Formats: sequence, C-alpha cells, structure tokens
Amino acid sequence: MHASEKDDDRANFHREAKRDDEKELYRGDWRFDQTMPGAAREADSESVDRLRPYVERARTFVGWNLERVSPKRIGPGLPWDYKRRAKKLLARASYTLDVGTGGGELFAELCDAYRGRAVASEPWAVNAPIAKRALSDLRIEVVRAHSLRLPFQDDAFDLVLDRHEEMDPDEIHRVLAPGGTVYTQQIGRNEWNELRPFLPRMQDFGPLLDRYVRGFRRAGMIVARAETRDIRVAYRGLGELVYLLCVSPWTIPDFNPLGRDLAPLRRVEERLTTPDGLALTESRFIIEARKP
Ligand SMILES: C[S@@+](CC[C@H](N)C(=O)[O-])C[C@H]1O[C@@H](n2cnc3c(N)ncnc32)[C@H](O)[C@@H]1O
Repeated sequence: MHASEKDDDRANFHREAKRDDEKELYRGDWRFDQTMPGAAREADSESVDRLRPYVERARTFVGWNLERVSPKRIGPGLPWDYKRRAKKLLARASYTLDVGTGGGELFAELCDAYRGRAVASEPWAVNAPIAKRALSDLRIEVVRAHSLRLPFQDDAFDLVLDRHEEMDPDEIHRVLAPGGTVYTQQIGRNEWNELRPFLPRMQDFGPLLDRYVRGFRRAGMIVARAETRDIRVAYRGLGELVYLLCVSPWTIPDFNPLGRDLAPLRRVEERLTTPDGLALTESRFIIEARKP
C-alpha cells in the first residue's frame, strides 16, 4: 500500500473528526431563530409555523432515541439484523467496547443479558453523562473520548461495536486483542440522495465502506463480511425530516430550515411526498472483521 494513499485516508478520517465542532455549533444556534427575510409569502409563513415545533424540539434533543421520528419501511428491508448479530457476538465476548454510544440506549439493550465486562466511549459532552446514567445499572463504564483516538490500551477488547459512529480502522485494530472482532453498521453514501439536488450543501463523506474495508485489511485484519444495501423508507412528513437534519448538524452545514433552506425544503416536500409519506433512500452498510 502506498504511503500517500494511507495519508489520504487519514486526512479523510480527520476531516470527518471535524464534525464534532460543527455538532457543538448547533445548540442554541441563532440561525434557527431567523425566518425568511420579510417572511412575505403566506405559504412560507404557514411552513415556518408548521416546522418551528420540530426545530424547537430538536434543539433540546439529547441521547440517541429517534423512535418518534423514524420512518416506515416501504419494500424489502436490510438483509442483516445489527442488533441480533451484536447480541450473538456479545454472548461469547468477555470485554467489549461500544464506540460512540450516544445516550447508551442501544448498548443498554444489547447488554441486557451480557455477562462480560464492557465500556462505552462517547465524544459529545452532552451525551456522555446521559450514557453514564443509562449504563450505570449494568456496571458499564462510560468514557468521554474522541472516537478516532480511543483512550484504551492495545489488545484490550475481544469485541468492538460501533453503530453509526465514525471510526479509524487502525485504532480499532490497535485496541482489539488477537482473535477479537469488530462489528459495525454505518450510514451509506446514498443516504437521502434524493435531497442532494435541492440541498446541495448536503455533505458527502465519500466511499466509507471501501475506505474502512481497506483500512481493516491494511491493518492486518480479516474482513468476514462487508455488505451495503439501500432501502426505501417514508417519513410521516417534512417535520420529521427537518427534525432529523437538525439533530445531525453534520449532514447539512449551517442548516437553516426556517430561513434560507425553507424554500428548497418545501420543494422536497412537493416532489417527494407519496401516499406513504415523504419517501427517501436509506443507505446502510455493515462490516465484521477479525484481528488474527
Ligand atoms: C449517530 S449517533 C449513534 C449513537 C449510537 N451508537 C446508536 O447507534 O444509537 C453518533 C454520535 O453522534 C453524537 N451526537 C449526536 N448528536 C450530536 C450533536 N448535536 N453534537 C455532537 N455529537 C452528537 C452521539 O452522541 C453519538 O456519539
């Protein structure tokens, strides 16, 4: 492998790491209070009134429970079940790390019947104490840490889990013990790609599946499974989508649903609303890899 290629990948991982700063910007951001200049047209002000409660609620969002706004699936689902596989792997693990645990909701559910030791890392200062509370009954320690620079010893874990949180394959390899496994589900590149023509500031995090697989292999790991799938889903309405875009501020930089992004959002609603709801692509991939 060429050194320059590796440097390239590292640069990309670190570019993603900048997400944190962008995320922190979101809370209490003045831009979300601004409406269209003059908010002249009636339709605009109707949309602002309709969307504002979603924006307000997103402002106080903590943890990572999105059940209230999650879409329904239209058509075939994913050919894997992240939770089921993670539980299976947990059943034979003795020391597990969950990277970017959010509010710890998912990891608590996964560890319900887990008997081994576990630790969770969480980069966002707001969520780290929430995860701590959610996981304390299970005696799972939560460490506030950047997901690309894990504060753990080499060869520490026999299982690393990561759902929807950025990672550095070299770091995962480093903290895994020989024989250990990493299992991750990530957001794929085609996520919500129907929005791109309307909202061109939407970020493209690049070919992450390829990059991660290459990274694991280059670190010396054996990739047992790597699979990606796009499915069709429908959101109840534009409000749910706006809510999700607000709570993931890394998706559209400076997202301003009640101001400059209002007109494109209304076009999205007009063009993409179906009898099922607001229909979009949901893109996911999984990787399971082992350190020999
Ligand atoms: C997509 S969440 C996934 C959480 C968890 N692994 C799960 O699957 O439920 C990824 C990370 O983004 C963090 N995060 C969410 N909203 C954030 C915000 N506004 N600013 C900073 N970090 C945020 C979460 O705390 C979490 O660590």
